[in-house]
Amino acid sequence: MKAVRYHGPRRPFELDEVARPEAGPGEVLVRVAAAGMCHTELHFESGLLDLGVAPVTMGHEIAGTVEAVGAGVGNRRVGDRVLLYYYAGCGECEWCRRGEENLCGALKAELGFFNDGGYAEYVVVPERNAVPLPDHVSLEEAAPIGCGVTTAIHACSLAGVSEGDVVAVYGVGAVGYGLIQVARLRGARVLAIGRNPAKLERARSLGGEPIAAAPGVDVAAAVRKATGGRGADVVFELVATNETMAASIAMLAKRGRLVFIGYSEDALTVHPIQLVITEARVMGSVGNTLEELKEAVRLVAEGKVSVTVDRVLPLASWAEGLDALRRGEVVGRVVLRP
Ligand SMILES: NC(=O)c1ccc[n+]([C@@H]2O[C@H](COP(=O)([O-])OP(=O)(O)OC[C@H]3O[C@@H](n4cnc5c(N)ncnc54)[C@H](OP(=O)(O)O)[C@@H]3O)[C@@H](O)[C@H]2O)c1
Ligand SMILES: [Zn+2]
Ligand SMILES: [Zn+2]
Repeated sequence: MKAVRYHGPRRPFELDEVARPEAGPGEVLVRVAAAGMCHTELHFESGLLDLGVAPVTMGHEIAGTVEAVGAGVGNRRVGDRVLLYYYAGCGECEWCRRGEENLCGALKAELGFFNDGGYAEYVVVPERNAVPLPDHVSLEEAAPIGCGVTTAIHACSLAGVSEGDVVAVYGVGAVGYGLIQVARLRGARVLAIGRNPAKLERARSLGGEPIAAAPGVDVAAAVRKATGGRGADVVFELVATNETMAASIAMLAKRGRLVFIGYSEDALTVHPIQLVITEARVMGSVGNTLEELKEAVRLVAEGKVSVTVDRVLPLASWAEGLDALRRGEVVGRVVLRP
């Protein structure tokens, strides 16, 4: 079968011919119908994210249909339309016991990170990772839920986003769109910070108040102005460059939380006094739990959260999708159709 694979840091992905996997005991074989392209793939390609495993089939936002089952899995699962949870924890550590396998230190699998993911015709996962989708949610719409929406749910929970909070979403890409909607559902006012008018317009339609980060604009000052001087209770960093991190720190309200979801080559520099005098907190958020993925599917199925698909491309056109993402031309997600 065809698969788009990572071959190590700073090397281009390649469309390879690989053996079709088979479902082992407790696993299902999924025919991939749609796989979302996350910005994380660009971090693999650039070498910023290097897990030391190659080659690996990329893609962690995966929707498809169960084609076959391994030993111990009921045949009734064949034909299920599913969204895949990309972590498989050890099941035994303190994190896994709490259902927080995104923090497991002995992961059995992480699809599209160090195990083969969804940029391929087929993928194999433990049965519990294949979460059924309601009929009215299309597979192309479902794929970007798997990271874009789930990451937002996890980060909002971690940051304790609640009624009346002012939330700033710095970077209006696919995860940003998830954050805007989930934070709004939790009763927050959301300021959406971006550079691209089309992306900001989409952010507005999802309930965010656009703040244009045009060259020369003091973004932190704009956030202060929009909040009567108070600042943002929660800032979600999806960009994390020197410039955006300095602005993010400067826009925090007292007891504000700066939450890193995105990252770049740049390191955070902050004088402790900035955190001390405001009692601010800096934190990170990674991935999501299986329960959060199920919640994400529910929210989309109920029409409370929508997914923004910029374009759907055949698997063979993966490079076109990645180039568009790199150039900042993608509003929401590119979805590949293997
Ligand atoms: N922690 C996790 O679990 C997790 C999960 C998913 C993704 N991530 C990471 O989170 C980040 C965002 O992911 P994504 O998939 O949402 O990426 P994305 O779709 O590429 O969105 C990022 C957005 O930031 C904008 N941007 C870039 N520089 C900017 C600047 N200086 N000021 C304002 N906006 C700027 C880009 O638009 P313009 O360039 O057009 O302005 C782009 O739309 C990535 O670093 C990704 O690796 C982390
Ligand atoms: Zn992702
Ligand atoms: Zn574990």
